[in-house]
Amino acid sequence: MAKKKSSNTKPLWAGRLSEKPEEEAFLFQASINVDKRLVFDDIAGSKAHVTMLGRQGIIPKDSASKIAKELDAMCSDLKEGKLKIDEKHEDIHSFLEFVLTERLGDTGKMVHAGRSRNDQVAVAFRLYLKRAIPLLQTELASLVNVLLDIAEANVNSIMPGYTHLQRAQPVTLAHHLCAWACGLQRDHSRLADTLKRLDECPLGSGALAGTSLPLDRKLTAATLKFARLSINSMDGVADRDFALELSSAIAITMTHLSRFCEDVVIWASEEFKFIELSESWSTGSSIMPQKKNPDFAELIRGKSGRSAGNLVALFTLLKGLPYAYNKDLQEDKEALFDSIDTLSACLRMFKGMIQSADFNLKRMKSACIGGFLEATDTAEYLVRKGVPFRAAHEIAASLVRECIDKGLKSISGLDIAELRKNSKLFEEDIYKAITPLACVRARDLPGGPAPKEVKRQIKQLRRKI
Ligand code: ARG
Repeated sequence: MAKKKSSNTKPLWAGRLSEKPEEEAFLFQASINVDKRLVFDDIAGSKAHVTMLGRQGIIPKDSASKIAKELDAMCSDLKEGKLKIDEKHEDIHSFLEFVLTERLGDTGKMVHAGRSRNDQVAVAFRLYLKRAIPLLQTELASLVNVLLDIAEANVNSIMPGYTHLQRAQPVTLAHHLCAWACGLQRDHSRLADTLKRLDECPLGSGALAGTSLPLDRKLTAATLKFARLSINSMDGVADRDFALELSSAIAITMTHLSRFCEDVVIWASEEFKFIELSESWSTGSSIMPQKKNPDFAELIRGKSGRSAGNLVALFTLLKGLPYAYNKDLQEDKEALFDSIDTLSACLRMFKGMIQSADFNLKRMKSACIGGFLEATDTAEYLVRKGVPFRAAHEIAASLVRECIDKGLKSISGLDIAELRKNSKLFEEDIYKAITPLACVRARDLPGGPAPKEVKRQIKQLRRKI
């Protein structure tokens, strides 16, 4: 039985081929369901191109201005819903050229002079990203500011810091949140770097080898507000480094969010109880009536896998591609758009969740007792009195062992005579030196958890973002 031929619209390249593809095959190679989001960027690219064609006398000036005007009209029609993207077309470029020709007849057919969809899509993609990246940066900055607001209110809120998920030394909630913010600040600057490098205009690269028509590449690049021209026409259509870079920057950011979420999930457990997520940012169980689950944190953690996957997909997509354009490149957008959408949603969700959470400061503070978090500071007390660190470490360790044997919760449970049995250098001031708050206050070097120092970190982070 003969398969159904495509009822879709005539492709731009139909002139060369006598047979139409089968419906399913046409849909398989189409990309409009993904690249339709480039619609306004593609219109902007076409408008700049056609205006330049008119200026250069490649097409009549009045045809150029007619096309430019119609492109504007299409823009507003799309926004007002008077023009709907028809997904029967192969891609957004084909659709827009179709509408233009339908509305302007032969004049519309002039728009593609000196251009290929290969440079057209490279331009539209970059224009889109030039808008998308600053939006991600704004969302990132807004999350950082929320974290820093919470930090600012909690520079004195003592909590245990962990290594190996074992209580290590006391820090503060503010110090912990600033650590998160540092990662996000680097993510912000990675996005800025990506933006800087992708800011070049490949328009005029044609299919791969430019064109014999006298295009003014500088003019179109300037109209589209690109910082520079791409250097080489083959690179112009083949390069997707910017997709790798952005997807990598996003995967790193998502990895950060995932780690923060892991903290949140642990903190929300009955065993820790450091955080109480608001009811509107929790979910229940379909069977266990008592449950209040940190689903949002878990899902953000889960979605980080997808952004890492998109990065791997892009690497795999590119690694075997001969120069210059290959249709494989059409797959780039779905992966990158997914990463962008995922990050944007996760940034907003994480912000909402953390902003509305209650931190259980009492519980955090009491968790600083019982795990001998003051042991390092006890050793450092002796170092300040001239004991070599390794020896001080041994003394503090034997104090910890003694406490455990005696069922004491902290080194300060030992009286001064017991302490002095281990080192004559212990004096009454040891008790004041090893309270959790004193331990935190004493670590006031740059980067440390002392309240004054963390206030400085908060300021520095606010300035950077
Ligand atoms: N939809 C295509 C893409 O995203 C546009 C370029 C098509 N070029 C081609 N020679 N088939 O890559």
